[in-house]
Amino acid sequence: MKSRATAQFRKLFAELPKQVKDLVYRHPALTSAMMPPGTLGTFMKTVLVTGVAGFVGFHLAQRLLQSNRRVYGIDNLNDYYDVSLKQARLQQLQYSPGFTFEKLDFSDRTTLATLFHNHRFDCVVHLGAQAGVRYSLTHPHAYVDSNLVGFTNILEGCRHQQVPHLVYASSSSVYGANTKVPFAVGDPVDHPVSLYAATKKANELMAFTYSHLYGMPTTGLRFFTVYGPWGRPDMAYYKFALAITQGKPIEVYNHGHMQRDFTYIDDVIEGVVRVMERPPQPKETTDAAAAAPHKLYNIGNHSPVELLRFIEVLETELGQQAEKRFLPMQPGDVVATYADVAALQADVGFQPNTSIQEGLHRFVQWFREYHQ
Ligand SMILES: NC(=O)c1ccc[n+]([C@@H]2O[C@H](COP(=O)([O-])OP(=O)(O)OC[C@H]3O[C@@H](n4cnc5c(N)ncnc54)[C@H](O)[C@@H]3O)[C@@H](O)[C@H]2O)c1
Repeated sequence: MKSRATAQFRKLFAELPKQVKDLVYRHPALTSAMMPPGTLGTFMKTVLVTGVAGFVGFHLAQRLLQSNRRVYGIDNLNDYYDVSLKQARLQQLQYSPGFTFEKLDFSDRTTLATLFHNHRFDCVVHLGAQAGVRYSLTHPHAYVDSNLVGFTNILEGCRHQQVPHLVYASSSSVYGANTKVPFAVGDPVDHPVSLYAATKKANELMAFTYSHLYGMPTTGLRFFTVYGPWGRPDMAYYKFALAITQGKPIEVYNHGHMQRDFTYIDDVIEGVVRVMERPPQPKETTDAAAAAPHKLYNIGNHSPVELLRFIEVLETELGQQAEKRFLPMQPGDVVATYADVAALQADVGFQPNTSIQEGLHRFVQWFREYHQ
């Protein structure tokens, strides 16, 4: 009964004019008075999620809305991959009364400063970025605009508004040419092998500087090959699924001699949410590196899988064999990724643990429904 009332309310609320919704959001007491009992807390925290129409941003927004947080989502809906997938993700979010979306490019300094001037955020989770290793070989400026200029704008916004915690996405690609496994956050990462990786490493350095100079709590998360429902069509597992179901050959790089620490999306979101709730604290010490309220974590499965094994499980789930075209290693790529998650486990009591059988099963279920 209650869930039907909630669903009805959410649908009606989503159709209200934006000015009315904004008024309600600004007055939490109003929100709780309007909602069916027990469906929303009297106080909802507001989280800015950048890249909300993207794969990870969408899942995070969904999870936060389910736990009664308000989400202010921004995205420029760029066409790096199929925009209709980004719009379909946004459509899933729009019925939640706590969700607001603004189409906005965070590399535009003035627009972003206005956003921070007009709103108060209890936490900022910066997931918007120009992603992808190979694309950075052909489109370097997209990475500079979104990942360097855009990241600076986010840092400045958080600094001026004194946001209690900025959580931002880094990447396992920062480990670049490293050969020591598993990759630990304390390992030197001075040899990125793509511009994408270099911008992510730069973000970590920039965030540290803001934590050091302004005491601003920041946490960087190095994600390891994230996959799952509503995933990214530019990533190998999604391309493989499309090609296999269309009877086309798949391209297997480095002749299949690759290992990836494939990490299921729900595990990544669990890690992000737990980290969000633990802003790093400044420490009383003369060691500047330890004193700044800045942390880094790997979010990976701690269980690398051979690429050919991954393809085998995908074939089983799809019930079709892949025609494999074996190709050499691609520039910018790395042979293996493997996350050391001891720091994450120690600080937030969690580490990813979904098997590829379970994760790919859920991906294929969604993939069939979405592409039918
Ligand atoms: N998915 C993975 O396997 C993976 C692995 C490592 C790191 N990451 C990082 O995690 C984050 C989320 O990745 P994802 O897989 O959801 O990627 P995604 O491409 O699906 O999402 C990123 C979103 O950011 C938006 N965006 C890009 N530039 C923007 C700008 N200037 N202004 C506003 N919006 C902008 C895009 O439109 C997109 O919707 C990214 O920072 C990515 O680099 C992802």
